[in-house]
Amino acid sequence: MRLVMDGVPPEPPSLVEPEKSGNAASEERDARVAWFRHARYGLFIHWGLYAGPAGSWKGVEYPEIGEWIMKWASIPVAEYRELAAQFRGDRFDAEEIVSFARRAGMRYIVITTKHHDGFSLFHSQVSAFNAVDASPAGRDFIRELANACHAAGMPLGFYYSQSQDWTHPGGAVVRDEYWDEAQRGDFDAYLSEIAEPQVRELLTNYGPVALIWFDTPVHMSDERATRFVNLVRELQPNCLINGRLREDRAGFDYSSMRDNQAPDRGAGHAWETPATLNDTWGYKANDHNWKSADTVSFKLVDIVSKGGNYLLNIGPRADGSVPEASAEILTKVGDWLLPRGEAIYGAGPTPYGEELSGSGYFETDKHWKYREPQGWRCTTQPGAYYFFLFGDHGAEFSTPGLPGAVVSVDLLTDAGPVALALSAADSGVRFRLPSEGRSVLGDVIRVRFRE
Ligand code: GLC
Repeated sequence: MRLVMDGVPPEPPSLVEPEKSGNAASEERDARVAWFRHARYGLFIHWGLYAGPAGSWKGVEYPEIGEWIMKWASIPVAEYRELAAQFRGDRFDAEEIVSFARRAGMRYIVITTKHHDGFSLFHSQVSAFNAVDASPAGRDFIRELANACHAAGMPLGFYYSQSQDWTHPGGAVVRDEYWDEAQRGDFDAYLSEIAEPQVRELLTNYGPVALIWFDTPVHMSDERATRFVNLVRELQPNCLINGRLREDRAGFDYSSMRDNQAPDRGAGHAWETPATLNDTWGYKANDHNWKSADTVSFKLVDIVSKGGNYLLNIGPRADGSVPEASAEILTKVGDWLLPRGEAIYGAGPTPYGEELSGSGYFETDKHWKYREPQGWRCTTQPGAYYFFLFGDHGAEFSTPGLPGAVVSVDLLTDAGPVALALSAADSGVRFRLPSEGRSVLGDVIRVRFRE
């Protein structure tokens, strides 16, 4: 079953290099991705009609990801479209979401504007199957979020399912396994009449778009993908394009890993790990398999220490409210992160690598999971290295070699930096952590040196 999860067969954690030819020069791309690499941590929001069924259909509960319920239950198009009549989103509050993301320490937001089910959260002129025209909500939720993000200076990106569309005729379905005759049609006609015009609407009507998050590139030949690239470059040249536009998954501005995957080692180009917080993207009433706050802080640090970004998901309920458990976890991580942010935002990757060995992911029946938070990680800023210690690490730590004479060593605590006494180790420094000021989400030690 897991083969179906992301619509493509599983692959080992590896990074597909951003496309270098037939696209922009890499200096241009480096300039475009600068803000993204600095941001490091983003909020993914999967919200749509699937939040209504919340994982069950006609009394049957489906164990797979919630936003694919239409496929799991082979729901006919006409019947699925009826879900719009119950979609109100009364509790969707864009400003609250933006301040929540801020409080959680997240520096960009990506929301599903149209997922594989074809329903759009924005007002589209090319399909009435949208939140304004087809639902009693009568609201353009994307406009609301865009306004709130722009007011707060929060970069906003749009997830858009360019290939798969299960309710517009001609939209792709994985392996062409249609379950309703109404889905059949001409794929290129779907692209030119629905997908391309909708991407145009998204890039025209909502102000600056930080990135477009394409997904499941079924039947996305180079030629078809290029049409989207041209559209994006024409309308918003600074908008980033992720790594799931084209069939070969080559990253355009950055590459996208799979759910919760990170590579064993860093890479020079920009990349991102999208991640579920439980085992679904879209809301499922009975999925309580939450990752703990210390797992999240560890993953964030691990990813940043390899030069990547972490895009962590919430799946609001059909009414727009955010499940309390996910809000609590993200807020806890935010409380830990904010006083230690200098070690994450704009931080460079580890100058070492020995600490990463054996850190790999392992595959379960459904997902790639990360090992328990343990060991150490390192990130850098000019003149400083940050050592993160996870798990039951003991009070003493010796750093590997440092690039200059040490000026100070501080434990970053909730109350601010606390200076530590140090002694010389073989090639670096050795220090002892006090019992106060430590955190179960990871201890962060800043070592400043003269370069
Ligand atoms: C996969 C799934 C999709 C989800 C996405 C998020 O591609 O098909 O449902 O939105 O992963 O990363």
